[in-house]
Parts: sequence; C-alpha cells; structure tokens
Amino acid sequence: MAKGLDVGTMNILSAQQDGNDTVFVQQRNSFVEIEYSDMAEQMLSRSEVLHIRKDDKVYVVGDDALNFANIFNKETRRPMKHGILSNDEQSAIPMMKLIIEQVVGEPTYPDEKLYFSTPADPIDSDLSTLYHQKTIESFLNDMGYDAEPINEGMSVIYSELADNNFTGLGISFGAGMTNVCLSYYAVPVMKFSVARGGDWIDEQAARATGTPVDKVTSIKEDDFELDFTTDVGGVEGALSIYYENLLDYVIDNIVSEVDDEDVEEGLDVPVVVTGGTSSPDGFEELFRDHLEEADIPFSISSVSHANEPLYSVARGGLVAARSDEDVDPQEAASDEATEEEDTEAAAANE
Ligand SMILES: Nc1ncnc2c1ncn2[C@@H]1O[C@H](COP(=O)(O)OP(=O)(O)O)[C@@H](O)[C@H]1O
Ligand SMILES: [Mg+2]
Repeated sequence: MAKGLDVGTMNILSAQQDGNDTVFVQQRNSFVEIEYSDMAEQMLSRSEVLHIRKDDKVYVVGDDALNFANIFNKETRRPMKHGILSNDEQSAIPMMKLIIEQVVGEPTYPDEKLYFSTPADPIDSDLSTLYHQKTIESFLNDMGYDAEPINEGMSVIYSELADNNFTGLGISFGAGMTNVCLSYYAVPVMKFSVARGGDWIDEQAARATGTPVDKVTSIKEDDFELDFTTDVGGVEGALSIYYENLLDYVIDNIVSEVDDEDVEEGLDVPVVVTGGTSSPDGFEELFRDHLEEADIPFSISSVSHANEPLYSVARGGLVAARSDEDVDPQEAASDEATEEEDTEAAAANE
C-alpha cells in the first residue's frame, strides 16, 4: 500500500493508492480556541468536528477551525510557521498530531511505509528543520508506520518528472516557504528553501496597503491574476508587486546556490513549479519570463506548471513510498498521472 504525506504550513494532505486511483485527504493546518462549556462539548462530541479539550478550553482543529472562528469571532492560529513547527505556539504539537492522525489514518498493516515531506534548511534564516522533522517522524512511528522524511522539492520531482527520469528542477511555492531541488536520475544534487512564500506575499501586501492580512489572502485566492493590468494602488497591485519580488528572490537564490559541479554539461533541465502559491493565472508565464532573464548556470528545456499544484507534494511522497515497497517508480508515478480525473473526483468526495 504505502502512503505519502505533505506537511505544509497551511495544508496537510495524505495520498494513497486505491486500485488505479490516488485518494487525497486534506485538512487545514490551523485551530481555534473556544471556552469550554458542557453544551459545546456535547455538540462537538456528536459532530464530526475535529477537536480536543484541554482544561477549560476546547480547540477546534483543521478545516472547521475557520467556521468556528467566524461564529465565535476569534482568530485562527497555526501550529506551523515558515515551514516548520512554530516555536511561539505552545499548542502546536498536540494540534499537529491530531491533524496528522486524521489525515493519514491507521496504517493498513504494521510498518507500512510512509514518506512525509520535510523542508530543506532555509538559507535566509537560522531556522533548523531537524526538530520539526524528528517530531513528525515520531508521531508517525508511534502510530505504527515506518516513516521516512523526503525533501519537499524532491517530492515534486517524484510527482512531476517521472517521464524525464526524475531529472530536473522542482520548485514548491507554499504558504510558509519555497522549496527548491535539483535532481539527476532521482538523486538530489542541490536543495534549499527560503522562508518566504504565500504568507510573506500576504503580509507585505497587507502592510503596504493598510489592509487586514485575512482580507488580502482571500482577495489573492479568489480571482487574482498576474496580468499586471489591474489596480495600481490597490491590493491586487500590491500582490503583483510582491509576487514578482518573490519570484526574483527565488531565482537569485537558485543562481547563487547552483554550483557548476552540480550540473552535468550539455544536459537540458526541465523546471516544474507547483504549490498553492503558484495557482494564479499568469504565474507560470511570469516565472518563465524572469527565469529567461536570469543568469542560470545550466540550460533549461522547459518550464511547466503541475496540473494539481496542491497535490504534487503528497503524490510525490506516495511515489517514493511505493517504490520503496518495490513498485517500479516510473510505473508508480504514471499510474497516477493517467487517473487525473478520477483523482480529482476522489479528492472532492473527501
Ligand atoms: N487560488 C489561489 N491563488 C493564490 N494563492 C493561493 C490559491 N490557493 C491557495 N493559495 C495560497 O497557497 C498557499 C498554500 O499552499 P500550499 O502549497 O498548501 O502551502 P503549504 O505547503 O505551505 O501548506 C497559501 O499562501 C495560500 O494563500
Ligand atoms: Mg505543501
């Protein structure tokens, strides 16, 4: 069987194979604290809402947190920040544990392989990913899985570059981070992350325009396009500016991180971009244009956008886990690619 798990700052997703289909289960990585009352406890216990009680507080966790936050006029909180467990959130660990247990479920058999995504150490902050990685690994092992970390950028390559022998540059633009990995024949030769992603864009655009961050996020996720025809002085204009700035920042760091030795001479490298932050129309074109202008020390054969940007990392973890359980990796990856529509339907039914 085997499973893949994407542990993201905003979304946690599992992927597993069901016949020829890939089934994804997703939860928001967030929670809200509400006052305990017998009434609330009873209501929650009878519902499907994920929650835990601690002393005189009840925590509603995952997708439902946002609804409860609106009803009770509270702010949601997040267990992770910049791609790893947040160190200024006391409740982070039990919340993450609950979400992960719900998303991956029980192992189908003891020591089932599970690959979970973990970021590369960021080059622009002194955050270390080790504690985060070990904590997630111990939750999963305690549940009875045989858990292995997989670099998030490498996971993108497993998911999207099977028909190029797992060779290329994978970039995952998430909420808390952007992860980059260059791989030759399924061997990562260069990987790094930057502690900037969608959250950073939202914060910057909010600050620039004096708009609440949540408002900026919903404008961005609604129907924002990177076409640069809109709204100088407004939120969309500010979003475009910071989107472009993030792309340049990532590209500059690719230029400075890639060594000549990393790159086999004469090889053309395909580039795949994915992650929630790569969703707006115009992202792929903008990235391609900026990459062309940059002084990248290898030649690029193509720039493409993953079909389902929110699912790539979980799917890549599944491909890695299945090949660890002796499914041919290219077969594992292609299985899924041919089942795109069923996959979407399965995910929508979750
Ligand atoms: N349609 C959309 N347009 C723009 N940004 C989006 C869209 N959907 C999601 N996002 C952004 O993508 C990010 C979440 O992507 P995801 O890859 O799940 O991140 P993570 O892996 O860090 O949890 C958030 O910043 C969110 O605002
Ligand atoms: Mg993610």
